[in-house]
Amino acid sequence: MARDTWATRIGFILAAVGSAVGLGNIWRFPWLTAANGGGAFLIVYLVVIFVVGVPGLLAALVIGRRANRNPIDAFRTLSNGSRAWPLLGVLFLVTTVVLLSFYSVVGGWTLNYIVASFTGAYGGDPGTYYEAINFGTTALLYQALFLLLTAIIVGLGVRRGIEMGTKVMMPALIVLLVAISIWAAIQPGAIEGYVYYFTFDPATVVANLPSILPAAVGQAAFTLSVGNGAMITYASYIGEDHSLPVDGSAIAVLNTLIGVLAGLVVFPLLFVFTGGPGSGGPGTVFVSLAAGFAALPYGNLLGVAFYAVIALAALSSSISMLEIPVSYLIDEYDVGRRTVTFGLLVLVLVTGATNSLNGELFTFASGPLVSMLMTAGFIGLLLFAGWVLRSEAIAEFTLGAGPVADVVAKLWLALVSVALPLFLGYSLLQSILGVVGVSVGWTVTISVTLVLGILCFGFLYRQHPDTVLNPTSTPEKPNDD
Ligand code: PFF
Repeated sequence: MARDTWATRIGFILAAVGSAVGLGNIWRFPWLTAANGGGAFLIVYLVVIFVVGVPGLLAALVIGRRANRNPIDAFRTLSNGSRAWPLLGVLFLVTTVVLLSFYSVVGGWTLNYIVASFTGAYGGDPGTYYEAINFGTTALLYQALFLLLTAIIVGLGVRRGIEMGTKVMMPALIVLLVAISIWAAIQPGAIEGYVYYFTFDPATVVANLPSILPAAVGQAAFTLSVGNGAMITYASYIGEDHSLPVDGSAIAVLNTLIGVLAGLVVFPLLFVFTGGPGSGGPGTVFVSLAAGFAALPYGNLLGVAFYAVIALAALSSSISMLEIPVSYLIDEYDVGRRTVTFGLLVLVLVTGATNSLNGELFTFASGPLVSMLMTAGFIGLLLFAGWVLRSEAIAEFTLGAGPVADVVAKLWLALVSVALPLFLGYSLLQSILGVVGVSVGWTVTISVTLVLGILCFGFLYRQHPDTVLNPTSTPEKPNDD
């Protein structure tokens, strides 16, 4: 069966931006920011996005386009049949199922709130309403509806479903967001929201860096959809005439602009409606903001528009998640797209039900678990591009990108092979040890040991690329086609 491809370059960029812009920007980002000191978090996050996120995104695009396959197959073929590297693809699939399981719960809440804003259901007491619908059978029903919408778009295919869908959804989302942010700007009290959002005290940043950094790194991997194979999958459908550095930068810049714009809606409204940023937490946009919408004349219409924005953002992301296992099953077993899509819908409904029915599981999955899984996957793909592909990665990076890309490519390779894996490794370790409750001294000791381990691995891999990961294989010449 011929593999799907994007019809147009802008179609790919919009689909990738659609994947990147999602609940991460509008729902997760505000509560992480509120929980990590406002502007202090924003500044660290912006730096991390451009220093860590963009090179990582480019690594994913390089791998995806080079292989023209789903992530598992990409790691297998590009490593000349290694048996270990495809396990990274398996990690991606597991991460994706975890992601979809909680993401669809929140996607379901957005659908519920579109209806509830319209009917005025949360009017009197948004806190009680949120508590009543967030977990349980109502949550499960709306989750199922959200997953069904996701599956319908994915089932229609890359061009007719994902590309056409995101071409409509992304402009609609931007227009709605701009309109609401203008409305928010003219409300009395909005200014305090901007002040909170944009000012930071350098001393606060430095003092809280150990806790801000892992959260910012996890959020960067989450928001750019790197670390679980979505961008590898989307890049596997693009042509060689694209400039990956240009496309990757466009995706990151658009994602960041839309994310910052979402903050320009959420923070002023939080201050206007509740007088402060709140204490963070997943309910921020569903309780505090709903209370405001309920109190305003015509607030129900504003509520419908606001939750529609979040629903569109969520949907354009969830389709990119579902596409990962779908592409794997189509590539690998040559089965029909609709069959695998709806089969996976049933699977994710079962795993997702555990999240919509159990709040504790949801909180763990949507917070530390997904951050750690995505950071681990992120490190894996950087090491793959930096140590396994190396010259092939440079060739792919520069393909269709013009002469300047040669210099940039070398710099990029240095970043993705050494600096970023070390940095991310440290940040991952810090969050793992934070969950387990281990002291700073031990964190440093274990980090140094791991760094030495990674360096030894890199060295051995360079000397014996065929045998390090697959001791039973006979050395082969690297495949350079
Ligand atoms: N980038 C999405 C967001 O910010 O909401 C989340 C996401 C989408 C993560 C797709 C992973 C993925 F494969």
